[in-house]
Amino acid sequence: MFKYVKHTNYPISIKKKDLRMAKFLLTQFGGANGELAAAMRYFSQKFTMPDDKGKALLNDISTEELGHCEMICTMVSQLTKNATLKELEEAGLASYYADHNKGIYPIDASGVPFTATYFAVTADPIADLMEDMSAEQKARAVYENLIDLTDDEDILAPLLFLRQREVVHFNRFKELYEYYKSKGY
Ligand SMILES: [Fe+2]
Repeated sequence: MFKYVKHTNYPISIKKKDLRMAKFLLTQFGGANGELAAAMRYFSQKFTMPDDKGKALLNDISTEELGHCEMICTMVSQLTKNATLKELEEAGLASYYADHNKGIYPIDASGVPFTATYFAVTADPIADLMEDMSAEQKARAVYENLIDLTDDEDILAPLLFLRQREVVHFNRFKELYEYYKSKGY
C-alpha cells in the first residue's frame, strides 16, 4: 500500500510564466523516457524480481518516480497558470488547449501521448534490470537537454535535483543487477 505525503519531493516555486518550457517539460511526465514510464515500469516489474531485496528496490524507486511525476506536473501547472488563450496560441498550445484546457496530460514534447509500449516486463531480472539502468540514463540525458533550454533558476533547481536522482537510481539498479549476476541469474 502507499501513503501520500502532502508536499512535493523537492520544493517547486516558479514565479515566471514560460509556456515554451511547460511544453518541453511535459515530456518528463508522458514521454518515452519520462517519470510516468519509469514509475509504471518498475512497479510492473517488481512482482517477478527473485527475492524481497529486488521487489523492495523496484517498489521504492517506482514510488519515488511517481513523486517525480508530481513535481513535473506542478512545474507545468505553475509555468502555465496565468497564461491567456492568446499566449497559449502563440506558444503552439492551441490544440493542447482544445483537448485539455490547462489540465496536465501525459504527452511528450512533440505531443505524442503516453503508452505502455514505452516499457517492457520480461520476468527475467537481468533483462528487466538492464532496461531499468538504460531508462535511468535516458531520463538523465533528457533532464540535461531540458537544463540546456532554460536559464530560470526556479526551473533549473528542481531539474538538477531530478537529474541527480536518476544517477542515484542507475547506481542502485546496477548494484542489484551485479548482485543477481553473482547469484548466477
Ligand atoms: Fe529514476
